[in-house]
Amino acid sequence: MGFLKSLFGAKEAKFVEVAPFGARYEVPSGETMLEAALKNGVPFPHNCTVGTCGSCKCKLKTGRVSALTDFGYTLSQQEIAAGFILACQAIPKDPLTQVEVESAASDAPKPEQYTGKIVATEDLTHDIKKITLELDRPVNFVAGQYANLKYPNIRRARNYSFADAPDRDGRQQVSFYIRKVPKGAFTEDLFAGRLTDVPFDIEAPHGAFHLHPGSTPMICIAGGSGLAPLMSVLEKARKDRVKRPCAFLFGARTEADLYCLEQIRQIEQGWADKFVFMPVLSHEPADSAWKGARGLVTQFITDAMPGINWAEAEGYMCGPPGMIDAGIASMTEVGMTLESIFYDKFTDESHIAKMP
Ligand code: FES
Repeated sequence: MGFLKSLFGAKEAKFVEVAPFGARYEVPSGETMLEAALKNGVPFPHNCTVGTCGSCKCKLKTGRVSALTDFGYTLSQQEIAAGFILACQAIPKDPLTQVEVESAASDAPKPEQYTGKIVATEDLTHDIKKITLELDRPVNFVAGQYANLKYPNIRRARNYSFADAPDRDGRQQVSFYIRKVPKGAFTEDLFAGRLTDVPFDIEAPHGAFHLHPGSTPMICIAGGSGLAPLMSVLEKARKDRVKRPCAFLFGARTEADLYCLEQIRQIEQGWADKFVFMPVLSHEPADSAWKGARGLVTQFITDAMPGINWAEAEGYMCGPPGMIDAGIASMTEVGMTLESIFYDKFTDESHIAKMP
């Protein structure tokens, strides 16, 4: 990586301007836009820093950049065609580069450090656990945001989305849905029951994923443990009596991989407008008793919410990268704009290991 950076580096001063922060900073030769932003205290959204999560996605308005690794590994074709880049993989080529980032909710608190311990675990499916941590004090966050969790045995903090709706006075107990990652140090410890009484360091909140204000139809798609941020967003919207039609599609492999169905039913019953819940199974045995939808969850958006004006709908997606890319393709195909599609790509150690 260092060799590539030095190849792309040049002597002329390069400046980057970031909207909507109004920040301007110099990018030293060989540094990425994100590295220089963070050194200059610019709150550029980021997470993995290695080009896998999409958190540092921004729209290139002026200037050209070189990519350390192909943006297409993480961004969809539609996003690349629309001028989106990844700041953690972008080295500016021109004297001035202007980009625009999706900003966090305007009421998102600044991240703080907390400590905590796991006080409860629950098996949601054969490979997804819900964990509840008791923190040293209440944390405030916006529905859809995530926390960085770390304990002494792991080198790198893991990012997990809050699964509960936030409380006005903060939450001292917070829950996360955690999918088992083969050979993932954290989840191996968790699923082996080795994390009881282990002290965690938590930094939160982070992330720009949140419900944008409006009354137009919203299409939500969750896959795997990507249910957590959407449960937080939808439960908060239910409590706030948000009045907008909502289709919620939940993609899983088999019926045994569906979870939180009772909580989803309660959200559906308390929703202030039309609410359609559609679970979609991709690998359910053909001879099972399942009567619901089968196939790829992203192919069912028009079935879930027929007859709406797609140009004004908003998309909210959380799940694995392949599902998000397919969802962006389906949503733009029916007329939704990229600017109205918001997502949280769930990457884990296995995705990082596959990076070139
Ligand atoms: S921080 Fe750039 S892709 Fe994750």
